[in-house]
Amino acid sequence: GLGFMYGSGIGLTSSQSKALIYLTFSALGGDAMGRMMLGYRYWAGIGVSKNCETALTYYKKVAEEVASKVTLAGGPMVSRVRLIDEEENPSTTSGRVDDDLIQYYQFLADKGDAPAQVTLGQLYYQGGRGFEQNSRKAYEYFSKAAEASNANGQAYLGKMFAEGSESIRQNNQTALKYYKMAADQGNPIGQAGLGLMYFYGKGVLVDHEKALMHFKSSADQGWPEGQLHLGNMYFHGHGVKRDYSKAVQLFNLAAQNGHLLALYHLGRMHATGVGAVRSCRTAVELYKNVCERGRWATQFDSAYSQYKAGKTNSALAIYMMLAELGYEVAQSNVAHILDQGLSTLVLNQTYARALLQWDRAASQGYAIARIKLGDYYYYGKGTEIDYEAAAGHYKIASADKNAQATFNLGYMHERGLGLKQDIHLAKRHYDQAAVNSPDAAVPVTMALIKIGFLYALEFIQNQNLRYSFVCVIVTENWDVYLILILAFMLAFTVAFRRHHRVGDD
Ligand SMILES: *[C@@H]1O[C@H](CO)[C@@H](O)[C@H](O)[C@H]1NC(C)=O
Ligand SMILES: *[C@@H]1O[C@H](CO)[C@@H](O)[C@H](O)[C@H]1NC(C)=O
Repeated sequence: GLGFMYGSGIGLTSSQSKALIYLTFSALGGDAMGRMMLGYRYWAGIGVSKNCETALTYYKKVAEEVASKVTLAGGPMVSRVRLIDEEENPSTTSGRVDDDLIQYYQFLADKGDAPAQVTLGQLYYQGGRGFEQNSRKAYEYFSKAAEASNANGQAYLGKMFAEGSESIRQNNQTALKYYKMAADQGNPIGQAGLGLMYFYGKGVLVDHEKALMHFKSSADQGWPEGQLHLGNMYFHGHGVKRDYSKAVQLFNLAAQNGHLLALYHLGRMHATGVGAVRSCRTAVELYKNVCERGRWATQFDSAYSQYKAGKTNSALAIYMMLAELGYEVAQSNVAHILDQGLSTLVLNQTYARALLQWDRAASQGYAIARIKLGDYYYYGKGTEIDYEAAAGHYKIASADKNAQATFNLGYMHERGLGLKQDIHLAKRHYDQAAVNSPDAAVPVTMALIKIGFLYALEFIQNQNLRYSFVCVIVTENWDVYLILILAFMLAFTVAFRRHHRVGDD
């Protein structure tokens, strides 16, 4: 806690060296969050010099802990809502299941619709997205679906009995029974479950060949658990000849489907160099991903509810904690809250702190943060005005085909800010911006009209003297003339369309 407070400067004057001391003691004492914060600091080079191997040792320990706690349910679903996106598009990114949708599912489930029962069962089984985990309710919904011979319902009942919970006593035979019923219908969840029972000899004798067969059928249907366990069998050579490349391939598939343990296994392969090229960088990236799915991720939901309830200060405090843990989305959200002046928690050097967080988020590859960095240097927010630094950031974003950044580069070339003044390069950038995004069409057209105007002026000036009087007037007030012309065009268009609409009626 002290490490976090010194690191983020909440409640006391920030000091990176003190943060480092407290976090180191915390990590030595075995605290997972302390280790994760420290891992991120060594990874990104915050208050210490970058050191991949040190970052790896910390991330590895946390990843092991997170991986060891993965349940068959997979843990609550957490969505890391980006507050910037949220402002533009509130309904789709809220991360919670819509109340109307829940009522609709409940209506269908009560009428005996098995898929709706399974969906509700899953939401209660896993938790998250606005649902409190509730195994008793999950069990009820799955049972109803299973009674109607729904294979998914049966498979999930199998999972619940295989693992056990407060409301359902662990029972190998019952689990086996339900898994079998589902697998007999060709259900991949049931097949993967049955494979695990044979693999570990739960309620049956250990039988690697049967396990392999069931995992294969499941994996062939694209089910991530099947892919993961099949990968494991190839990795260890259980019941099959050891084959690292097959293992990697299967882990990759399962990881793409979001299976946490697949990420973990890949991370371990790259960390140790067993079955894959040893690469500290790749290992840390994979482990970091695993760590970010730890139990602390649910804080994203808390922060977001606080934010929605207008309690921006507590939202900011939680996002700051997550930002220190290394979550890019949290860093962007902290920067956004500070940037918009939504919180009274941080009153001093608000822009400088936002700049710091944009910088961290941009280093993790978030393009909008990169553009914000450019903007901060351009306008001198939280820093001195530095056109060259701004252009540098825009260039990085522009290389990723970001239209806004490309447009800004065009403007900087046009005005010679931080870049060589060059109308031709400016035009090329404007054109490129329009290619990169259709949204840029209007501003690009305006900019090109303006450039066309500048060309014309240059031409007239080169023609010399005779028009110089006109030129003086025009150069001084060129923007007024431009606006006038555009206003005429707009008025004309509106009149034209109105005329047509009347005609249509
Ligand atoms: C289920 O099987 C496992 C593995 O053999 C065993 O450890 C566990 O105790 C069994 N569960 C019950 C309730 O018997
Ligand atoms: C803001 O921070 C500066 C530099 O750290 C400090 O000198 C100043 O007193 C602070 N102002 C307030 C209002 O805390």
